[in-house]
Amino acid sequence: MNAEADKAADGARPRLEMRAISKSFGGVAALRDVDFVLKAGEVHGLVGENGAGKSTLMKIIAGVHAQYQGQMLIDGKPVHFRSARDALDAGIGMVHQELSIVPDLTVAENVYLGKQLTKGGIVDWRGMVKGAREQLASLGIVVDPRIRIGSLAIGLQQLIELARVLFSGARIVILDEPTSALSPPEVERLFEVVRKVRASGRSIVFISHFLDDILAISDTVTVFRNGARVVTEAASKVDKVWLIDRMIGSGHEGLEESYTDDIALDSKPDAPVILSATNLGAGRAFAGVSLDVRAGEVLGVYGFMGCGQLELARTLFGKNRPATGSLALEGKKLRLRNTAQARRAGIAFVPESRRSMLFYSEPVYKNVSISVLDRIARLWLKPAEERRIANGHVASLSIRPPRVNVLLQNLSGGNQQKVALAKWLTWPPKVLVLAEPTRGMDVGAKEDVVKIVRKLRDQGMGIVVVSTEPETVLSLADRIVVMKKGRIVREFAGEKISKDRLLEAA
Ligand SMILES: Nc1ncnc2c1ncn2[C@@H]1O[C@H](COP(=O)(O)OP(=O)(O)OP(=O)(O)O)[C@@H](O)[C@H]1O
Ligand SMILES: [Mg+2]
Repeated sequence: MNAEADKAADGARPRLEMRAISKSFGGVAALRDVDFVLKAGEVHGLVGENGAGKSTLMKIIAGVHAQYQGQMLIDGKPVHFRSARDALDAGIGMVHQELSIVPDLTVAENVYLGKQLTKGGIVDWRGMVKGAREQLASLGIVVDPRIRIGSLAIGLQQLIELARVLFSGARIVILDEPTSALSPPEVERLFEVVRKVRASGRSIVFISHFLDDILAISDTVTVFRNGARVVTEAASKVDKVWLIDRMIGSGHEGLEESYTDDIALDSKPDAPVILSATNLGAGRAFAGVSLDVRAGEVLGVYGFMGCGQLELARTLFGKNRPATGSLALEGKKLRLRNTAQARRAGIAFVPESRRSMLFYSEPVYKNVSISVLDRIARLWLKPAEERRIANGHVASLSIRPPRVNVLLQNLSGGNQQKVALAKWLTWPPKVLVLAEPTRGMDVGAKEDVVKIVRKLRDQGMGIVVVSTEPETVLSLADRIVVMKKGRIVREFAGEKISKDRLLEAA
């Protein structure tokens, strides 16, 4: 990386030491004999496949898991946290992979969660609003701190949660997948703040499946695999291929493309149109959107967070009703009153927030079949049959652990996302709308999703992929439209495109 950072990483004493940590869930090992050292004033990147144990180790440090074997030391002193509060009091702050904001509180209350400002014994409401506004501004967020946080877009909520932990004064800051909903300029702003936090001598753990981001911000990187720490190395000495080798083995060099060079889009202008939108508009979210989705193609819809693309996706699926314009499916005018109608017409949707679609306390096989319950009822599908179908999907998507009876809540984040996709494989729809289909997935899992999407496309399905991640649309799409402030501003079809050119258009 840079010489300064190298010096900090080499010379600094350990702030945190984890010795021989093991942890299992219901007899299944999630961490095996892990040693891990975090130095003062370093950014430590953590990578590894979905389910490798990254979040589990961090949750031990943050006091979420109190039961484990092994020893933890902070500044050389043994500690054992019984709760997240214990960890907080010891100066450890964590932004979890799953958002942990309180939707009904205001932005300011969330920024000051657990450490309210007081003045003369009463809550200093004005001080919190002012402080929140300033802290958020340094992350480039302009938002009224007095509004309810639940009313904001997910990406904004994510930034506000980041602000909360970064400005909490914690000496150890753990960021578990913090950039999944952020656009590139927001990631850059986050990195600036992370660098400031590092410069003040504090330590940051940064977990991400975006290896470019990991290499850009980290001083040190550690690779996890199957619950073990495989290697720790100075970030300046390694590259992406090296990381992927250690994460999943060699022979996957093409996996994590950076798209710095042009790739060719394989558009199919002659394929029949399945779904078309004409002059679609919905309030302030988007306007004048016309597009065609063709059979056997993947249409990418790219734009920064908040550009209206998620609202557009919801409209295509009947979740939101358009204020203007119309939709047609296979040439016939479509008036969707609700999502059930859309599904019956043959349009399926996998939303960006998997929470709304998944049943966490149900086994995997139920989650695979629930979306088609009405059809299953008609087909008299027996539980054994349900499991057999689910087994096939679990195998073809390499869902881990590969057991359909496991409760969904016990799967790692990336594997839950694969289950969300598997739901639609049983009875494929005509049009499949995917919002952020690879969010939170490791490089191998992303490759699995690319394969599945191509398979569905080649069966003649029309697929729409909506994403704020340039890599996601570039890896999946045959044609790309770019949205900006609620309008389509550019189409890329049958030409060459790179990440830079896509970003320029947005
Ligand atoms: N609360 C839990 N109950 C049971 N099993 C769990 C629980 N939490 C995690 N696991 C299991 O522990 C293993 C490690 O999971 P962990 O969440 O640490 O993975 P990860 O490296 O963070 O993956 P991802 O990149 O997908 O977030 C996985 O096999 C997971 O299924
Ligand atoms: Mg995780």
